[in-house]
Order: sequence, then structure tokens, then C-alpha cells
Amino acid sequence: MKKQWYKDAVYYEVNVKAFQDSNDDGIGDFPGLTSRLDYLADLGVGCLWLMPMYPSPLKDGGYDISDYRDIHPDLGTLDDFKKFLAEAHARGIKVITDLVMNHTSDTHFWFQEALKGIDNPYHDYYVWSDNDKKYAGTRIIFIDTETSNWTFADSVGQYYWHRFFSHQPDLNYDNPKVQEEMLDIVRYWLDMGIDGFRVDAIPYLFEREGTSNENLPETHAFIKRIRKVMDAEYPQAMLLAEANQEPEALLDFFGDGDEFHMAYHFPLMPRMFMALKKKDVSPVIEVLNKTPAIPEGCQWMMFLRNHDELTLEIVSTEEQEYMLKTYAPENRMKSNLGIRRRLMPLLDGNQRANQMMNAMLFAMPGAPIIYYGDEIGMGENIHLNDRDGVRTPMQWDAGKNGGFSNAAAHNLILPVIGDPLYCPACVNVAHQEAVASSLLNFLKKLIQVRKGLKAFAYGTIEILDTGNVRVLAFVRRTADSVVICVFNVSAEAQWCLLSLSSYAGKKMRECFSGAGFPSVDGGSYTVMMEGYGWYYLETE
Ligand code: GLC
Ligand code: CA
Repeated sequence: MKKQWYKDAVYYEVNVKAFQDSNDDGIGDFPGLTSRLDYLADLGVGCLWLMPMYPSPLKDGGYDISDYRDIHPDLGTLDDFKKFLAEAHARGIKVITDLVMNHTSDTHFWFQEALKGIDNPYHDYYVWSDNDKKYAGTRIIFIDTETSNWTFADSVGQYYWHRFFSHQPDLNYDNPKVQEEMLDIVRYWLDMGIDGFRVDAIPYLFEREGTSNENLPETHAFIKRIRKVMDAEYPQAMLLAEANQEPEALLDFFGDGDEFHMAYHFPLMPRMFMALKKKDVSPVIEVLNKTPAIPEGCQWMMFLRNHDELTLEIVSTEEQEYMLKTYAPENRMKSNLGIRRRLMPLLDGNQRANQMMNAMLFAMPGAPIIYYGDEIGMGENIHLNDRDGVRTPMQWDAGKNGGFSNAAAHNLILPVIGDPLYCPACVNVAHQEAVASSLLNFLKKLIQVRKGLKAFAYGTIEILDTGNVRVLAFVRRTADSVVICVFNVSAEAQWCLLSLSSYAGKKMRECFSGAGFPSVDGGSYTVMMEGYGWYYLETE
């Protein structure tokens, strides 16, 4: 069991623009985020993932980058960023940034040059075609807004390729210069001291006729190149893959331990929500059974929500329909193939269900990540555009603009949640810090408990038969520790009988409460739980 910081850490995704405004212009910024680092340290966060903070026209939340080497002026200066980084590190918090490798903004200098003519040296930085029939086997991702992966550029009389919005032209990785540029950008930020990257939209770097243009061998060859540079020059840094793919395809992104250190477990996420609604844990068991073993040194990133829609790209059509019917009853809740909602409203505001889902997430074989605001159960605003409804200002207190900014409300980057159930008067950090039974204090404790349970970060998983579809049980184990985890996904009391003959005679302790539980006498062990109850049982 080799200790690696990225396997152990609890992660936190932050949208800098919406976290804390320091200069009253209505936009969150790095000095603001720096002033909130004590909060994040106190919560127990080990690593922050920053959504893109680069100069950008912000037509896709900053995933449309116009300059890879600077900070968006609204968010501060490079010096502000460096100061933030030093302050985070001083508190033992690592920082990874979002790196959008697949595409740039159409306002990026490279694309502006490329538009000047086919002889321009930057023209070949992008993917062009004289017609829009090439690569016909490629799916469209943003189906709500795009009808083709090609858009015509008048100035050159050609079509350019884009997997996302038409203002996000895909870079041409067949051009060695593009590869070099990206490696230089990687070095630029790692030299500044960041701890790694969340690499956006990684399956789509290369295109080849007759394929789906996802997950191609050429893409993996380039990832190996990046990893080689990192291992040689920045051995402590971590690479995290955003690849919304099936479990078997995800395995490819770890390579032989020579590609990504981590990848989001996209297939698990919707199945946890499904299990809860169906009161049946089979979808979770199925996906865990399908999850391949990953190379030494690699780790899954486990999540419930993020800044995007709750994606349903990798569930069956039937499951998709079920999820939309149950979790997106209003049309405005739908987005592309997913659901644009926050965790707490998805769970009907049920704090006990929320706690159980987080407890399950934290016990899964991987490292958990919290999306900013979900630790206090923030709400959503489905009347905002695209995915903005889950990117609203952080709610710090019951004061003006939820303590996010002193600007006039109409000047805020996005409006603060106004829904009476979820507005800052009801949902805010200051209040939840003061109330012992709050969701925030629960998560703070859960993070501490997880830190003490090394089997969660490093152990194997073995699913136990519970004889009850409403109850999930599994064993997480390292050479010197065993934690038996049990979860009731229904609102009603449940019990199950676990076969624990290998632990006969062992004493049991429940780790979250610290309570002693009955010893494992014979082979079988009875567990009783209230609605949404759960236990982390450690053998002694
Ligand atoms: C990733 C990001 C998403 C963005 C897309 C295009 O999927 O998570 O927010 O819109 O890439 O850059
Ligand atoms: Ca500001």
C-alpha cells in the first residue's frame, strides 16, 4: 500500500466566479477565494479543483479559453493566483486546474489567425474540411444547441470541426506544433506550482474516418506523452480524466499506469440516484461488478454532482427515461441528455437521504469530490440558461447577496438563489456552522472519519449478499483493516443478515458514531437500520 496524496484526498470543485467577490464588482475572484481558504481547510478539503480561470468570452463557463497562460481579468491577476496558490499550500490544500485541451474559444489568437487564410501558419492548428460530411459516425454532444459538428467559416471557405459549441473549434492534434503548444502549457502551470490538471473532454483529441472519434489510440499515445513529461519533470503532479464513457472504455485512460492517475467514475453516479428512487440497490451492484480493476497508482474519482448536467449518456434508454421521469419532472430541468439540478433538490430536500448518499459515496473505492455549495445543500434556479442554474453564488450568510458580494443584486455574475426553501436566509454557511445537526457539520465529520479509514482510499471492495434489495453492503479491506459498510436506500426501516464467517469472534465498532456493536459470534450477523440508515463497521 503505497501512500499517494491524490488517492487519499477529499476533493472540492470550486467555481471561482461564484465563490467570493472581494472587490464588489459582483464577480467572485482569487482574493475572494483566498479569503475563504480557512473555511475549506476547516471542512477538511485536501485538494481543490478550479473550473477554468483563464481569459475567456465566458460563453461556456470558461471552457472556451482565449489565452491559456493568464487569469481572466474579472478573477484577478496572475499574482493574485500565485498568492492564492501559496496560501492554499500553506494550509495543506493542493490545487488542480481545469485544462481544456480539446478546443479553444473562437476568439483565441490561434483561431483568429487560422481564419485569415489556408496559408496562415495557424490554419493547421484546427480541423478543416471542404464539406460537412466527413467523420459522419460522430455523435453530437450538445444536442440542445448544435445540429452538426461542422461550422462553415466564410473567410476560408471551409468547415471547421467542433465536438461542443460552434464557438469552440477543436484543436488539430495531428499537427505536432499543437502537441508542443499543449505540453508547454502543461509545463507553464506546473512550473507555477499547481498540483495537476483535470483534463476536460479528453476522449475527443483525434479524429479518424470510420470511427466514433472517441477514445482513439492516437489520443492515448498523446496522453502517454504528457504523462511521461510529468513523471520526469513533475513527479508529484496528478492528471485527472474527464471521460464520460463506459467502465471498460474508462480503463483505457489509465493505460498501463502510464496515462491518467485518476478518472471520474461516470457510470456509478446515475446508478446511485437510480438505486435511491427505485429503493433497489441492484443498479449500484451491477456497475460495481462491471468496474474493472485499475493499475497500481491509479484511483477513481467518485462524485454525485458537478457544474454540468447530471449526465445520462451512459445509461440505457430505459434507464434514461426513468431518471428523467423521476428526477426531472419539469422540462426546464432537462439539458442535452441530462438533468441540470443540484444535489439537495434532487433529493427533495431530504437531509437524511443526502447524508446516506454521501456516506455511500465516501465509502466507494475511490476518492470523493464535493461540488461547492452541496455541502450546505444549496438549491438550483432552473430559469437560468444552460447549466447556470447550478452555478449560482455561494451562500455564506443570511446577509446581502448571501455574503457573496457587496455589489448591487443586478450586477452579480448570476442571481443568488431566491427560492424560499433554498435562499440564503434558510441555507447558508454561518447558520450551518452554528447548528450541530447541519449538513455542513455532518460532512465535516464524514471527511474526518474517512481520513481515519485507509481502507476507503486504498482497500479492495467485496460486495456482500444482504438478501434485501433495499440494502447495499460491502467490505473495504487492506492488509490490516476491515470496514463493513451497510446502507439502506429506502425511507423505511430495514434489516439484513450478513454472512461474516471470516470475521467470527471479532468485535465491531461503528466508526461514525464510535459506538460498540455486537461481536460477530457465529457466521451470520444481523444489521438493523432506520430509514436511510447506514453504518461503517470496523472489526477490531
Ligand atoms: C466539459 C465541461 C463542460 C463543458 C464541455 C465543453 O464537459 O465539463 O462544462 O461545457 O467540456 O468544454
Ligand atoms: Ca470581484
